[in-house]
Amino acid sequence: MKILVIGSGGREHALCWKIAQSPLCEKLYCIPGNAGISLKWDCPTIKANNFEEIISFARSSKIDFTIVGPENPLVDGIVDHFSDAGLKIFGPGAQPALLEGDKAFAKELMKSAGVPTADFTVCHDYHSALNALFEMKLPAVIKVAGLAAGKGVFIVTNSQEVETTLEDIFKKRKFGAEGNTVVVEECLHGEELSIFALTDGDDYLILPPSQDHKRIGENDTGPNTGGMGAYAPAPIGTPELISEVENKVIKPTLTSMRNRGMSYRGLLYVGLMLTRKGPQVLEYNCRFGDPETQCVLPLVKGDLLEMMIATTEEGGISKWKAGHLKDKVYTSDVYAACVILASKGYPGSYAKGILIDGLQKEYEDTVVFHAGTKMVDGKILTAGGRVLGVTSMGESLENALAKAYLVAKDIKFKGKYYRRDIGHRALKK
Ligand code: AMP
Ligand code: GLY
Repeated sequence: MKILVIGSGGREHALCWKIAQSPLCEKLYCIPGNAGISLKWDCPTIKANNFEEIISFARSSKIDFTIVGPENPLVDGIVDHFSDAGLKIFGPGAQPALLEGDKAFAKELMKSAGVPTADFTVCHDYHSALNALFEMKLPAVIKVAGLAAGKGVFIVTNSQEVETTLEDIFKKRKFGAEGNTVVVEECLHGEELSIFALTDGDDYLILPPSQDHKRIGENDTGPNTGGMGAYAPAPIGTPELISEVENKVIKPTLTSMRNRGMSYRGLLYVGLMLTRKGPQVLEYNCRFGDPETQCVLPLVKGDLLEMMIATTEEGGISKWKAGHLKDKVYTSDVYAACVILASKGYPGSYAKGILIDGLQKEYEDTVVFHAGTKMVDGKILTAGGRVLGVTSMGESLENALAKAYLVAKDIKFKGKYYRRDIGHRALKK
């Protein structure tokens, strides 16, 4: 089969790396890709939001199956466009993708389906949001309902922060139309966990549970980022906990989506807070998480491409399970850890175009996934905030982390920054 992956980050590099291992994959393309992806696979220069040109490329190159990495094209309906053109594609259509694209819709769905989540109010203007927050205990959380590239969630601890945040959203319109609605919710406390389910809308396969590190600074300090590192399987994601999440979150969510005529296919990412009252949903995402994917996919046993194709077929996952009764999707005796190497200044402004050194070496049990990199005259330069994801595998989490940190130290570029405490919560236990 000829496969096309859409996107340009570490998640997409990990997807290409895993998909290319499938015996079904004869040729792989990535649009637009990055320097690391382009070293191995063709990366046509088409923008990820130019659906017309992507479809025309998929037709002329006889692509059999397309996999979409990021949320924007999904929420903008790339899956519907491909399906209308008679092309096979992995992921939810625009309507089911609203689980990520509209947090107000997602919260209302959780409430009606009885999915545990923080108490909330949906507000459409400055004054109603201010009033809702007056009634709440601080800290509370203000979330822009639309897509905000991970920058639309604010934990507010005093009335000054409440006012400034609401002014930014409703008066200065920092998020444009994506900020027309906000969700105001109770602040939850606990450890976070990411659960990925590959689903055909009915049945599903759970991938290894992982834990992301969202803050820029060690000990989870400083501003939120896209994610500074991750590890899997997260020991806190015990089989009992996963089973509870299946029953309280995944099954009711999928059923509720089906009942609304918006059957959800593709990858459902459930972001959880493990509170004293049990797991509560922080958010749904309609795609693989990044960087979690970089440490989840190396642990998936068997053919990910086959599983992804199964999500696009009616009853596909049940059929896949029936054919793999003895196979585990993953086992818990191998661990993977991913350490993100970022540009100094990220998540604020940072320099680009800096030469990266040390990428030509091969490292034991390690894959260096590229995120913000660019090939210029045969040289690999930085081109984003998150530059590389060093992912290592080992028989224990300590071992996987030790290998990843050796490589993280060895790769050099001016302004390289990384957190030295990835996995700290699991290690403490
Ligand atoms: P979201 O995009 O909704 O996942 O939010 C991004 C991050 O904000 C989450 O991963 C949490 O770290 C934090 N967050 C979101 N909602 C809450 C909440 N209700 N209580 C505490 N932290 C939250
Ligand atoms: N790592 C968080 C996300 O992908 O949304």
